[in-house]
Amino acid sequence: MKALVLSGGAGTRLRPITHTSAKQLVPVANKPVLFYGLEAIAEAGITEVGVIVGDTAAEIREAIGDGSDFGIKVTYLQQDAPLGLAHAVLIARDFLGDDDFVMYLGDNFIVGGITDLVDSFRTDRPDAQILLTKVPNPTSFGVAELDTDGRVVALEEKPKEPKSDLALVGVYLFTPAVHEAVRSIEPSWRGELEITHAIQWLIDQDRDVRSTTISGYWKDTGNVTDMLEVNRLVLETVEPCREGSVDENTEVIGRVRIEKGAQVTRSRIVGPAIIGAGSVVSDAYIGPSTSVSEECRIVDSEIEYSIVLKGASITGVRRVEASLIGRAVEVTPAPRNPSVHRLVLGDHSKVQISS
Ligand code: DAU
Repeated sequence: MKALVLSGGAGTRLRPITHTSAKQLVPVANKPVLFYGLEAIAEAGITEVGVIVGDTAAEIREAIGDGSDFGIKVTYLQQDAPLGLAHAVLIARDFLGDDDFVMYLGDNFIVGGITDLVDSFRTDRPDAQILLTKVPNPTSFGVAELDTDGRVVALEEKPKEPKSDLALVGVYLFTPAVHEAVRSIEPSWRGELEITHAIQWLIDQDRDVRSTTISGYWKDTGNVTDMLEVNRLVLETVEPCREGSVDENTEVIGRVRIEKGAQVTRSRIVGPAIIGAGSVVSDAYIGPSTSVSEECRIVDSEIEYSIVLKGASITGVRRVEASLIGRAVEVTPAPRNPSVHRLVLGDHSKVQISS
């Protein structure tokens, strides 16, 4: 069995964090969301992995290399334009050959991995196996309609009037039957070859399409509240470690990772939290559910339930909460007199000021 991981798509997205980088590399507990997918694939015993790349190919290649860090062998498949998930299957035909495969969308996060799912697919080999989850906003997803026995009867992509709240999760298992399906469909109104249509084609041909409903799923929808929440969940499971230096005037409580080269002085850190490699934390309070990435500076400040990305600095500010701070951002206090806010905010930034 092989895996096809979709990490293509355009490089521009409508929110600050992914304006300048691939959305599959958004970090959850200081690790790109894509890495969790690759780890789940390796854990399920799959080693041959095709990675679809688009505009952000260079960034994705740099992050995963030949896959050996994950125990997999990666073949990159260039997609000239994001023409749809079924288009990705179409261009991966030679790589996939006549093997069964799992298709994994690189911006999806599945709590608990995919090993059980892959094992049961290997045993039963239906033509297609999809994953579903209840969501509050089904119009943003592919949506499945099930009959009273739980069989999939219809699928619709981003329906205006959804027939259920069961969204398609971005993990699909296929036998080679899907290749005829992706060749048989036409582009949708949004100009994409939809995998949803290919699976509907299989249903219409009376092929065996099964579904499993899961909980514990997250997708980068640009929603910061969800991102903070998934970060919190994952932090609760990270292995604590102290690879960096911590002075005797610092108090570290609970599950805390202090990575290589980080320096923590005169501070209080209450886990679960991560201080990334090379970061400096001094005279600071880092509260629960906070991820500080590499090379950040948190000085004379308090922060809790937040994500701070690479190279950002927060100096003399209290208290930052429920926040997502982008790469190389600087947060400092404004002068007291005159009492003003001084803001330099990138496109699509969101700021809440207490005054
Ligand atoms: O995340 C689950 C949803 O993913 C499903 O509910 C939908 O049925 C499915 O169509 C898909 O919806 P999105 O429109 O949200 O997919 P998105 O454009 O975000 O692409 C998903 C991933 O696949 C993302 O990592 C980018 C990559 N991709 C996407 C397209 C369209 C490619 O590599 N190539 C492509 O052509």
